[in-house]
Amino acid sequence: MHNTDLEKMMDTTDEWIRERTGIQRRHYAAEGETTVDLAEKAARRAIEAAGLAPGDIDLIVFATATPDLVFPNPGTLLQARLGCRGVPAFSVEAACSGFIYALSIAEKFVRTGDARRALVVGAETLTRITDFTDRTTAILFADGAGAVVLTASEEPGIISTHLHADGGYKDLLYCTGGVSSGYEAGSDGKAVIRMAGRETFKVAVTMLGNSVDEVLAKNNLSRSAIDWLVPHQANIRIIQAVAKKLDLPMERVIVTVQDHGNTSAASVPLALDTGVRDGRIRKGDTLLLEAFGGGFTWGSALVRF
Ligand code: UT7
Repeated sequence: MHNTDLEKMMDTTDEWIRERTGIQRRHYAAEGETTVDLAEKAARRAIEAAGLAPGDIDLIVFATATPDLVFPNPGTLLQARLGCRGVPAFSVEAACSGFIYALSIAEKFVRTGDARRALVVGAETLTRITDFTDRTTAILFADGAGAVVLTASEEPGIISTHLHADGGYKDLLYCTGGVSSGYEAGSDGKAVIRMAGRETFKVAVTMLGNSVDEVLAKNNLSRSAIDWLVPHQANIRIIQAVAKKLDLPMERVIVTVQDHGNTSAASVPLALDTGVRDGRIRKGDTLLLEAFGGGFTWGSALVRF
C-alpha cells in the first residue's frame, strides 16, 4: 500500500506522510492471511539461513500483539506447522518492544542451557486493529513478520539486553478493547489502536536515548563501538534522534520504515533481515537493536553478529 493508495481512502497526502514519518509504502496481509501465516514464512527462512531444519529447534518465543487466537498461543500454532512438536512454545506481548523482550527471554534460556537452538519470531497483522477512519494512526501501521534463530555458542552473540516498562503511560498508546475488559458499544467486537502521537513521540525519543546510554554504560563501551543501529521503525524522525545520540551517521543505521511502516514486533527483525541479506551487516559487527511501544515498553539489545 503506497501513500497514494491511502490518499484515496482518507484525508491525507503522500507529502505529509513522507515528511512527518518517512513512510512511503507498507504491506497489508491478504484477506484471511493471519499473523501465524506470515510468521511461518519468516521462521522457515530464518531456520534455513541458520543451516538448520525445523526439527532442530528446541524453543519458540513468539512476539505479537495480534495473535490468531486467544489460545492456543501463536507459538504453538507455529510449532505444529513447523513440525517440532513437544518443544516449549509461547507468546510474549509487549507491543512494539515485543521482539526485544522475546529475544531477551530466549537468550536467557540459551545462556542457562535450557535451549540450544531457539526460534524467536516477531509477527503482526496490525491492520486488523487499525481504525481506517483515523488518519493519525491509519497511515502508520502495517503487517509483517521477522525471525531469528539463536544457537548456543562459547562466543558471545547477544552481549546484553535491557528491558523497561512504565504502565503509567497506558493512555497514550493502547488498543480499545479486549477479551476481559470487553469492547466499546457498537464496535462489533473490533478493538482499534489509539495513540496520542506527539506525546508518544516525545517519550519515545527520551526513553530510547536513555536506553542507548544504559547499553553503553553497562558494557563500558564508547559510542564508536557500535557498527550498526537496528531500530524499531516507527518514524524516521525518532530513528534520526537516536542515531544522533549515538553520534552515528545515518549510513550506519538500518532504515526500512519507508518500505514497511510500523509493523510493531516485526519491525526490528525485518530491519535486521534487510541489513543482513543485503550484505551491510557482516559477521563480527556490533549491533544495537532497540524498540519502543505501547505500555509503554522499551528495550535494547547489544549483539555481536
Ligand atoms: O511504535 C510505537 C511508538 N509509536 C511512535 O513512536 C509514534 C510516535 N509519533 C509519531 O510518529 C508522530 O507523532 C505522528 C507521525 C503520529 C504524527 O506526527 P506529528 O508531527 O507529531 O503530527 P501532529 O500529531 O502534531 O499533527 C500535526 C498536524 C495536525 O494538524 P493541525 O492540528 O496542525 O492543523 C494533524 O491534524 O498534522 C495533521 N495530521 C495529518 N495531516 C495529514 C495528522 N495526521 C495526518 C495525516 N495526514 N495522516
